[in-house]
Amino acid sequence: MIIGGTTWPKDRRWVVGIAVAAAAAIVAYGLEWRHLGHLPGGSSRVGLVCGIVGGLIILFELLLWPRRRVRSWRLGSAQSWVRAHVWLGLLAVPLVLLHARLLFIGGLLNQALMVVFFLVIASGIWGLVLQQSIPRALLEQVPAETIYDQIDHVARQQCRDAWRLVDASCEADGHDGAHHGDGAVADDDLLGDGEEADHAVITGFRSMTGIQGRVVETLAVHAVIPGTREIRRRFVAEIRPYLLAGGRSGSALVAPSGAARFFSALREASPAEAAPLIGRLEQACDCRRQFDLQARLHRWLHGWILVHLPLSVLLGVLLAVHVPIALLYW
Ligand code: HEM
Repeated sequence: MIIGGTTWPKDRRWVVGIAVAAAAAIVAYGLEWRHLGHLPGGSSRVGLVCGIVGGLIILFELLLWPRRRVRSWRLGSAQSWVRAHVWLGLLAVPLVLLHARLLFIGGLLNQALMVVFFLVIASGIWGLVLQQSIPRALLEQVPAETIYDQIDHVARQQCRDAWRLVDASCEADGHDGAHHGDGAVADDDLLGDGEEADHAVITGFRSMTGIQGRVVETLAVHAVIPGTREIRRRFVAEIRPYLLAGGRSGSALVAPSGAARFFSALREASPAEAAPLIGRLEQACDCRRQFDLQARLHRWLHGWILVHLPLSVLLGVLLAVHVPIALLYW
């Protein structure tokens, strides 16, 4: 958590600081308003000071971009930069509003500047909310979390392990397609390496004393369970495509309720000895569902910056045009 929680003592100083600065600016603006008898603009005394401070804050905000890329910069920790970035960015809002005559402004450039400014602020707040909430959601809802870039690889590996278990425990079916290279099973790699499978490695997740984590189990496979052809068929036709492609497979297993119905029907159609095997397959599907959720959350966590950053650069450009023009017409 970058703001709040355990960091609150540090944030409290910022909150007090920006509250005092914003209150002082508002009071000074109010006094100047009373003195002038009309809304002070950007060239009034208070309006100008607010504009200069707001502009300097925006420049400082933009510095986070090189700061994040040039790791050798030793000016303060990354966390202090983000904290200053967030709180000063919020302080810029009242300052810019006061500088911009509470938004009663004319001119296309000024209006564009304000629109972009508020979009930058809104996207920053949105990003902050995501950065605060997504890591917790990952911790709570994705105990099977893996390295994002390796999701496809790990999913493939898990599918292969699940297949080994099914292949070793279920009765062979001449029409299951698994050994015949039909469209359902296109990749020999997934069908095992040809060794006799007397064990299978299965990844699951467990909760112990409230902490969830991934566990890897090696299961001994003793014998084929009679009456399990249907499991093999269903694996090839439905479970395997889902384990490999997740949400992209369009499978009913994508939804937890669809998966619950699917596995309960499979349990009913299978002998009681196959219940642990079906449980493992269900867990493999849960794991795949978590990978999909992880990928979605990852995209949310990193996608917002693709809005915030370009808008910030545009804001910098508009500001660089605004300042000389404003000085010229002063
Ligand atoms: C004028 C106002 C602002 C400007 C010009 C600005 C600009 C930037 C820039 C250039 C970055 C670096 C992007 C990168 O390196 O990929 C950034 C990151 C960020 N901004 Fe802003 N920003 C502003 C206001 C805000 C506000 C008000 C908030 C939140 C309340 C905010 C939240 C963030 C966050 C959370 C990051 C990512 C920091 C990190 O994870 O390292 N920004 N912003």
